[in-house]
Amino acid sequence: MKTPKELVAEMTLEEKCSLLSGSDFWHTQAIDRLGIPAVMLSDGPHGLRKQNDKADHLGVNESIKAVCFPAACASTASFDRTLVRRIGETIGDECQHEQVAVNLGPAINIKRSPLCGRNFEYMSEDPFLAGELASSLIQGTQSKHIGVSVKHFAANNQEHRRMSSDSVIDERTLREIYLPAFEAAAKKGKAWTFMCSYNKLNGEYASQHEELLTDILRKEWGFDGYVMSDWGAVSDRVRGVHAGLDLEMPGSGGVNDNLVLEAVKRGDLDEKDVDTCVERILTITKRYLDNAKPDTPWDLEKDHALAGALAADCMVLLKNENSILPFRPEEKVLVIGEFAVRPRFQGGGSSHINCSSVTSLMDALKDVPGVSYCQGYAIKDDQPSAALTEEALEAAKHADKVLIVAGLPDSFESEGYDREHMHMPYAQEQLISQVAKVNPNTVVLLYNGSPVEMPWVNEVKGIVEGYLAGQNVGYANRAVLYGEVNPSGRLPETFPVHLEDTPCYLSYGGEGNTAVYSEGVFVGYRYYTTKKQPVLFPFGHGLSYTRFSYSDLTLSAEAMKDTDTLQVSVKVTNTGDRAGKEVVQLYVAPQKSSVFRPVRELKGFDKVELAPGEEKTVTFTLDKRSFAYWNITLHDWHVDTGVFDIQICADAETVLLSAPVNVESTVRVPVKYDINSIMLDIMQDPKAYAVIRSTMDHATSALGTDGEQGEAASEAITEDMGLAMMKYMPLRGMVSFSGGQMTFDILKQLIDQMNQA
Ligand code: BGC
Repeated sequence: MKTPKELVAEMTLEEKCSLLSGSDFWHTQAIDRLGIPAVMLSDGPHGLRKQNDKADHLGVNESIKAVCFPAACASTASFDRTLVRRIGETIGDECQHEQVAVNLGPAINIKRSPLCGRNFEYMSEDPFLAGELASSLIQGTQSKHIGVSVKHFAANNQEHRRMSSDSVIDERTLREIYLPAFEAAAKKGKAWTFMCSYNKLNGEYASQHEELLTDILRKEWGFDGYVMSDWGAVSDRVRGVHAGLDLEMPGSGGVNDNLVLEAVKRGDLDEKDVDTCVERILTITKRYLDNAKPDTPWDLEKDHALAGALAADCMVLLKNENSILPFRPEEKVLVIGEFAVRPRFQGGGSSHINCSSVTSLMDALKDVPGVSYCQGYAIKDDQPSAALTEEALEAAKHADKVLIVAGLPDSFESEGYDREHMHMPYAQEQLISQVAKVNPNTVVLLYNGSPVEMPWVNEVKGIVEGYLAGQNVGYANRAVLYGEVNPSGRLPETFPVHLEDTPCYLSYGGEGNTAVYSEGVFVGYRYYTTKKQPVLFPFGHGLSYTRFSYSDLTLSAEAMKDTDTLQVSVKVTNTGDRAGKEVVQLYVAPQKSSVFRPVRELKGFDKVELAPGEEKTVTFTLDKRSFAYWNITLHDWHVDTGVFDIQICADAETVLLSAPVNVESTVRVPVKYDINSIMLDIMQDPKAYAVIRSTMDHATSALGTDGEQGEAASEAITEDMGLAMMKYMPLRGMVSFSGGQMTFDILKQLIDQMNQA
């Protein structure tokens, strides 16, 4: 294939326009005359969903047999870059084998509410965690010369009205919460392609949002790949081309391509815009074609085993009273729940994999002596069945321990619609409470893509969050339940007590087509920790069968400029008697701030494996971004000069070690003073304050102590009180209260000096 530039130069306008959309559901357009083949794109994100015929994008029709890895809700719980990269690499190899040029994922929208139907496919409520792990996945897949498509760009945080809803988000919140994971995917992951979302952002469809697709993504973040539309996300194709939407998917049968053609002919669209889109598409296509390796082997069984091994490190041990887990092989364990034989391990919609094989928990337990099973409930039923309940309760009385496998049926959460509540089916909630009454040694294993309420949380001794763990779920569950693998997952999202506790409870879903993100930056743990709102399980929580202790938190400096970096190290020791993996979490907490900020935010994490008694030193590098907030005057990241605590935490709520660092800003936020500027703001700006200081001092002392009036006043108003009151006085007050000594002319001169200071 020639270079994209050469090819564009040789094409007719008609040919160029034809490349702007897919040839069908899953392929780009070919131009035989110029030796440009069509290449295939396939979902994504936790496996390969390659459809041959009867294409559809919602998982209705069958695709080829493939391997379903843990969904993002689970893989992110690993907090493990290497693990996630491994998934990416394996999918990359599978794509090479199947001649798929781009895998449509990762999906990295922020989990704004547990109600979003697609949370199972998304990574986290925290943008740093999502961005880091997305980058690892991207690097993994792209190391195999297969592209990814980072989706859904941007602010697609609900399924409700997903194709028409307008996400209304203020600038700071957008930059701090909803964009950084995408930013990392572009800058660190170096993603080959992005997929725009269906929704509008602040009044404009993402598919024609120039600020998003060009100014931010390309000019600011340096993205050099192509942007495709989500399937059917195009509203105005001509505007889309100008805004930076290169490829429309699926093809519109040439309808939109013709509109583009006519717009160029009319002079409404610059042909250069078309050239740019085509060149970008061809650049990525060529990158794949030059490195295509269809002879890459694909061993389904090997990948099935890998999916199980990786999933084991994603399980989160939420509760383990009296060390009820791990089960011992000699114990009589009763497993209750239809999910144990018919597991739910992936979500519904476009990510749905046609699995090469599935290992349920009961499949995985078949060689374990002492294990028995009873159904307990029917997955599809919300109401309990008297017969199934009675059978389960009777059996539970005779077991040493009971494991109830419970969770959300497919109908409760899926792409395409949101949840209305956070409950599990009533039959399962009831069963857990009843079983726990007859057998106090009850453990619950959960299959769900998003948090559930747990009215029974205090009634059971153990809880394992199994999420949607992929097709080898049974192996992963058994490994953790029986201690063959020490659990090391951590929650990538908060589990609130009630739905009503969630930060966007009052506005989630929006009114009509308008969804105002009124909670601002206080999403997930940023809200719960700042408000001290009790939760069921905090972000970052997860237990182990061993214990870890932390010591020797060391910072490379006590004070730094915002242009410097800070090295942080901490020692972690496995003080228990089993090998295990620990997730070290670093948060930054500003002691003071000029804007509303969460009490702490995750700025570093690492996963380390430690043998019993072993210790390791974990190091982190923090930079300006670790301390900064998005300043809406500068339209840039900014650090307020001040003290920040560097906190090593067990989870978002629990600080284990803390050390302060003083960070000095090198950037002054420009302020324009006028007669209505108030003293408080001026007093915080040393240079401006110096200009009016003597005048101010005079005014303050006049208020507090001077003269006859002053004496009378001093009894009622001390100097401190005078100062406190002065804080809110506008500069023009100096004229009003000076008895004619201060004039507007003098004041204006002072203001000029302040503005130049
Ligand atoms: C989904 C995308 C998916 C596409 C193709 C859309 O409905 O939102 O995530 O990649 O379909 O299946």
